Amino acid sequence: MCGIVGYIGYEQAAPFLLSGLEKLEYRGYDSAGICLNDGNELVVKKAKGKLAELKKLTDNGKNIFGTVGIGHTRWATHGEPSDVNAHPHLSDSCRFAVVHNGIIENYLQLKDYLSSRGVVFRSKTDTEVIAQLIEYYYKGDLIDTVIKVLSKLDGSYALGVISQENPDEIIAVRKESPLIIGLGDNENYIASDVPAILAKTRKIYRLENNEIAIIRRDTVKIINTDKEDVKKQIETVNWDIDAAEKGGYEHFMFKEIMEQPKAIRDTITPRIKDRRVVLDEISLTADQIRKYNKINILACGSAYHVGVVAKYIFEKILRKPVEADLASEFRYRDPIIDDKTLTIVISQSGETADTKEALKEAKRRGSHVISIVNVVGSAIACESDDVIYTWAGPEIAVATTKAYSTQLAVIYLMAIYFGDLMETITDYEYEMYISELEALPSKIEKILDNEESIQYLASKLFNSKDVFFIGRNIDYALSLEGSLKLKEISYIHSEAYAAGELKHGTISLIEEGTLVIALATHEELIGKIISNIEEVQARGAYVLGIASENHKEVGNVAQSAIFIPKTCDMMLPSLAVVPLQLFAYYVASLKGCDIDKPRNLAKSVTVE
Ligand code: AGP
Repeated sequence: MCGIVGYIGYEQAAPFLLSGLEKLEYRGYDSAGICLNDGNELVVKKAKGKLAELKKLTDNGKNIFGTVGIGHTRWATHGEPSDVNAHPHLSDSCRFAVVHNGIIENYLQLKDYLSSRGVVFRSKTDTEVIAQLIEYYYKGDLIDTVIKVLSKLDGSYALGVISQENPDEIIAVRKESPLIIGLGDNENYIASDVPAILAKTRKIYRLENNEIAIIRRDTVKIINTDKEDVKKQIETVNWDIDAAEKGGYEHFMFKEIMEQPKAIRDTITPRIKDRRVVLDEISLTADQIRKYNKINILACGSAYHVGVVAKYIFEKILRKPVEADLASEFRYRDPIIDDKTLTIVISQSGETADTKEALKEAKRRGSHVISIVNVVGSAIACESDDVIYTWAGPEIAVATTKAYSTQLAVIYLMAIYFGDLMETITDYEYEMYISELEALPSKIEKILDNEESIQYLASKLFNSKDVFFIGRNIDYALSLEGSLKLKEISYIHSEAYAAGELKHGTISLIEEGTLVIALATHEELIGKIISNIEEVQARGAYVLGIASENHKEVGNVAQSAIFIPKTCDMMLPSLAVVPLQLFAYYVASLKGCDIDKPRNLAKSVTVE
């Protein structure tokens, strides 16, 4: 998603703007730009491509001056990636400059309205309409003008506005797209996300929807669209800077794969006391939990894949119907949800628009919402009835790994907790699950210690053209994640398929040398999956098996095999996913792909 930064102080703004945008690169973008007020006029420099282009254009910020400025990395929505479509956008007379994250859904009507009144547009973007509207309605009071313009906009936006009229102010506005205000000493900042300002300050305000910040060097005033003062709590960010840096690894993704044992420990340890699962975040009583007749899980992408794993686990343990729903589909199918449905929302960023809107739909229909989120204070966290945070720390790589793993860990905690309340697990099982959960991090460490073997397999297989991930039951659920990891960072086409379903058509695609990665960890179905391996091999497939170390027979059938330590069925995905993450990472690395910032992707998709 787009990245926004802004600075107002007594230092030159350009260096902070460029470094801040660098810290937001992980969000994904295709052009970048900055605008400064040099005391006489607004000066804009922007360029298609990576931040390096903008640095070249501004001589690393040395040829553009001013102590007030805004910057932006754009992930194109309206209008192709280009210099002219890059932000910041200026109004006709260049008196107002705007950066924007989000989508203005009625921008064409507004553009037609302004064009019919003689306004000339330079770009194809929705954002330029905002700059032109400010100029069009400006009668001398910038705040009144901004409020009037906001009343015309449909859609989502985080805005940064500077002007020649109010040279000592940055105006920041939020509706749906996240925006924070960094509080410094005689200087203040705006940013889409914490990493951009962490080197400067740990004190922030998180803007809520329809809040407007009037930011000067020594004051930050926050009002609502009725111009009433809004009292805000200062939040102190406790991230350590290393956590937002690579820490010596070549890529954030590899660092975050290696951080998984710690991330899981940090997530489960505070929630296991005296061998009992403690989920004080859940406000429901035992009686209320027992009364639910259905669980619905809403998420996107990898978080959705956690939901599919959770479906198998919850149905097996809780004996309740469970649906894992793609959030982007849920809202538009008139879902059967009511106050007897418990909704679980899963999101790393807590800002995914599809997931956030699906959450609101579930609440509108009376469902209680528990969300599993990695970013404290994010929109989804704030919208939920209960929030269980994953303590994975900042996840910078676009391809999620440690957040996925900690989400799984929370699902196990919930399964044990609810199973106990619903009396669907025995005391023995309860104790066994606790032991297996506490042992997970060290088992993952064992797999990570042997990551070279996966690097070797990747070196043999990275030229594959089409890859199939197959599995049964919880292995099928995991195959979805294995396939997405490979696709999103190596750009190799792959499909996840229920192993038993392959023969109903898609097996026609298997030919000599087709790579099939068979997830063969589920204890009871090992015989079935071995048959499926033999089926595809009979048609020429090269099979890489992923199996539990107590099923070495998989290594006798498949051409290659990776073995993972034993654990209970429910927790196998947490172990089997690690080789899949590493395989995708090494394949993408061998193909020279941009691992942390894959093409076309964004870390948090805050537009529908
Ligand atoms: C996964 O590697 C992707 N980055 C993507 O599928 C992601 O999981 C999805 O966009 C959901 O994001 P969220 O967890 O922040 O809601």
